[in-house]
Amino acid sequence: MTSPVIDLAALEKQLNDLQGTAIASITAAQSLEELEQFRIGYLGKKGQLSAILGAMGKLPPADRPRLGALANILKDEVQASLEQKKVALQTAQIEAQLAAETLDVTMPGCYRPQGRIHPLNATMDRIIDIFIGLGYIVDEGPEMETDYYNFQALNTPEDHPARDMQDTFYLPDGNLLRTHTSSIQIRHMELNDPPIRLIAPGRCFRRDTEDATHAAVFHQLEILAVDEGLTFTDLKGTVKSFLMEIFGDVPIRFRASYFPFTEPSAEVDVEWNGRWLEVMGCGMVDPNVLKNVGYDPEIYSGFAAGLGIERFTMVLHQIDDIRRLYSSDLRFLHQF
Ligand code: DAH
Repeated sequence: MTSPVIDLAALEKQLNDLQGTAIASITAAQSLEELEQFRIGYLGKKGQLSAILGAMGKLPPADRPRLGALANILKDEVQASLEQKKVALQTAQIEAQLAAETLDVTMPGCYRPQGRIHPLNATMDRIIDIFIGLGYIVDEGPEMETDYYNFQALNTPEDHPARDMQDTFYLPDGNLLRTHTSSIQIRHMELNDPPIRLIAPGRCFRRDTEDATHAAVFHQLEILAVDEGLTFTDLKGTVKSFLMEIFGDVPIRFRASYFPFTEPSAEVDVEWNGRWLEVMGCGMVDPNVLKNVGYDPEIYSGFAAGLGIERFTMVLHQIDDIRRLYSSDLRFLHQF
């Protein structure tokens, strides 16, 4: 009797050996990558198990089922130990990571005092939000101005008496620190065509002696609308809906007044805590101002208004002295 090239016993031994080495090396694997290499080496398409099964065809048919059954058991066992090792390695990895990233939630934190928005900025933000809601855009201008933008273009020539109320700090080169935000009206109109819906906040300066209601450095917000067919009614409606947002439904009155750059002009008062309080100046843009920026006053009309941020802040928060707003006293600032 000639013995076959490969006999059952030889293949069974190969399977047993394979099982022994596979399980030993899987148990010893140090990483998930290494484990994957073992899986491919033992169970992969070109792995050792495949090689043994490939040789099965050379067995007498009667022996094949037995070898097939053995191979399946081996495969299941190797797979089970791969899976087990995989879970063990993953758990170890997570535990190592947790150990490395330990967060001691009982450790005292580092205290950083919480900052807050200054009441002047908060008022400014509130007013800006209201006008943004009405379709206005925000622009700004320089704090150091020329005489032309601060006065002349606003219909206030050199010998105009209205200049007396706005004495300011003059610079050696003839420029000055702006006395109001109205100068931004001119700068904005020079660079833009109607329709205009503008608000312009900013810091202003005057040679005022400081007291409870006056500061040499203060803040204003300018409002300007230019379009075809704007009338005093539009001005009143806009001012009224703005003031209602700020103060609620309080009585409002328009009082005739004078500004060189508006005609007619008015002051607006609101009744607040039983007293009439002046809160802003306004008027229809003087045709001379429109001419100065090259707009045709026969086609366009506009309204403008200006208000003091300090004034609004003081009224809203019942602050008795403007100087508190600049004192950086935390006992004061913490109340807002
Ligand atoms: N510029 C004026 C001031 O500082 C305030 C003002 C009044 C602005 C009337 C305006 C306005 O735009 O129409 O006293």
